[in-house]
Amino acid sequence: MSQKDVGNKVPIYKLKTTDEVMKYYDEWGENNKYDKDMIEWNYTGPKETVNIFKKYVKNKESLIFDAGCGTGLVGLELKKFEYKNFHGADLSQKLLDIVPKNLYQRLLKVDLNQSIDIKDNFYDAVMCVGTFTFGHVKPSALEEFVRITKNNGYICFTINEGIYEDYGFDKKIKSLKRNNILKEIEFFKSDYIASKDVNAWLGIYKVKK
Ligand SMILES: C[S@@+](CC[C@H](N)C(=O)[O-])C[C@H]1O[C@@H](n2cnc3c(N)ncnc32)[C@H](O)[C@@H]1O
Repeated sequence: MSQKDVGNKVPIYKLKTTDEVMKYYDEWGENNKYDKDMIEWNYTGPKETVNIFKKYVKNKESLIFDAGCGTGLVGLELKKFEYKNFHGADLSQKLLDIVPKNLYQRLLKVDLNQSIDIKDNFYDAVMCVGTFTFGHVKPSALEEFVRITKNNGYICFTINEGIYEDYGFDKKIKSLKRNNILKEIEFFKSDYIASKDVNAWLGIYKVKK
């Protein structure tokens, strides 16, 4: 499906620059509109991703980085399954401001298209849900995710099916696999926003260093 077609269903997909994306989300968060829309659209990304994640990351004390946490929907799922230590990072300060209090141990405003101000090998796992999509975060972020994840840690993410090849996620993942940096555990097409006929690849990978 072309960006134009999908942009008619989900307006955010029409945006081009990081600045436009940030402004859009800042406004989308007002009066909890983002969360209300996600309920109305039956957005299943956070639930589907955490369901896969919990099959492999058994230690509930694991330190997790939620990249592009938005309003905290992934954090709510992690909490449901008794994970206790997770940090959230997002471009939109307005969304970070409406994340439920005390859900994440730490919230950071970051542009994931730049290098992330976190030490190497800091996290046990990285989650990234809904953030690899049109005009949002590029495949180079996967290298940063690898850098901040410990050896034998996990990276779990969705990639909107419409950008998987067009933005070069297929090539980036292939190269990380070929160089034995990522070991594929599961990778399949998930429902994501099936109500809008928008699906995503969902992957979980083990990091090898
Ligand atoms: C579709 S939302 C997903 C939010 C959350 N993970 C969820 O599943 O509800 C995409 C998120 O990516 C964030 N985002 C977009 N571009 C970004 C960037 N360059 N750096 C960091 N976050 C970004 C947006 O602010 C937004 O919160």
